[in-house]
Amino acid sequence: EKDKLEVFYKMHVDAARFFFQNLSNNKEVREYLYKRGIKDQTIRSFGLGYALNSWDSLLKYLRSRRYKEEDIVKCGLATKSEKGKVYDRFRNRIIFPVFDIRGRVIAFGARVLDDTKPKYLNSPETPIYNKGTHLYGLNFAKKNSKETSLVMVEGYMDLISLSQAGIQNVVASLGTALTKIQGRLLRRNSEEVYICYDADTAGQKATVRGLEILQAEGVKVKVVQISKGKDPDDYVREEGKEGFLKLLENALPLMEYKLIQEKEGLNLDSDEGRITYTKRIAEILNELDPIEKEVYLQKVSEDAGISERAIRKYMGNQNENSSMDTS
Ligand code: GTP
Ligand code: MN
Ligand code: MN
Ligand code: MN
Ligand code: MN
Repeated sequence: EKDKLEVFYKMHVDAARFFFQNLSNNKEVREYLYKRGIKDQTIRSFGLGYALNSWDSLLKYLRSRRYKEEDIVKCGLATKSEKGKVYDRFRNRIIFPVFDIRGRVIAFGARVLDDTKPKYLNSPETPIYNKGTHLYGLNFAKKNSKETSLVMVEGYMDLISLSQAGIQNVVASLGTALTKIQGRLLRRNSEEVYICYDADTAGQKATVRGLEILQAEGVKVKVVQISKGKDPDDYVREEGKEGFLKLLENALPLMEYKLIQEKEGLNLDSDEGRITYTKRIAEILNELDPIEKEVYLQKVSEDAGISERAIRKYMGNQNENSSMDTS
C-alpha cells in the first residue's frame, strides 16, 4: 500500500512536469498569465502549467511512463465515463499544482482561459489528497517567510500575486468552507491569522464562517477589508506591496468586525435599530472576558446611546435566564 502511494506521488510530479512543459511550449497561453501580471519567474516558482486542448494527451504521456490506467483514474487525472471511456480530466486549462506542507505535488487546480463555467476544476479526493486537511501555499510560506502571522486568502491567483509582490506569509483555503483541521494547521504555523477574503457576498459569508472555526480553535484573528468587488489579487496589482501592507495594518480585530457586521442593515438613528443592535451585541459581549467586556461595553454604549448600566443589566438577565435553562 505504501508503495502504491509512492507511485501516486511520482505520477503527480510527472503530470506537473508535463503541464509545465506544455505551458513553456505555448506562448499564447502564457500571454493569458502575462496579461494578469504573472512573470516567468513566478510561473517557475509555482510550477504553473497548461493542460492541452485534447481528450487524452496526459493519458498518453502517463501511459508511456508505464502508469496503469486504473491508477491514473484513482489519482483523478483521468475520468472514466459510464460507457467505460477514459479521458483527461483537465483540458484546455491553466494548471496550478497543489503542494503539501513538505512540497510534494498532491493535486491540481485548473482554470479556464475565458469565462466558461466552471471557472476552476480541482482534483477529486484521492488516496494522497484530502482537500480539507491542506492549505494551498503553506509549504512556500514556511520556506520563504519569517513572519509570525499568516494571511489567508481564497484563491490560487490571490496567493501567487501576493507572493510575486513580495508578501510570502500567505495561504489559500481555495474557496471552500474552512475546516477544523485547517484551523489547527493555521494555529500551529502562526501566531496570528489575517482573514483576507474577497469583498463579495461569497467572500464575506466565508469570512464569518471562517472566523467561527478559527475562534473555536483558539487562533488570534484579524479581518482585512478590501474595497468592494475586489480580491487580494486585484488589490495588490493596483496598489502594490505597500498598499497591501497598509491594508493589513488596518485589519480589524475580531470584535470590531463583529460590531460592524451586526450593524449591517440597521438604522441606529431609529429606536428600533438601537434596541436590536444593542441586544444583538449584548449576546456577543457575554462571551468575552471581563476586560474585553469592559472595553466593548463602553463602545457599544456610545454607539447606540444606551447606558452601560442598562446593557449590563440586560446581560445579567440573559445570564440568569441561561443558568436557569441548564438547571
Ligand atoms: P480568478 O478569476 O482567476 O482571479 O479566480 P479567483 O480566485 O478570484 O476566483 P473566485 O474568487 O471566484 O474563487 C476563489 C477560489 O475558489 C478559486 O481560486 C478556486 O480555488 C475556488 N473556485 C472558484 N470557482 C470555482 C469553481 O467553479 N469550482 C471549484 N471547485 N472551485 C472554484
Ligand atoms: Mn467563484
Ligand atoms: Mn470571489
Ligand atoms: Mn477572487
Ligand atoms: Mn481573482
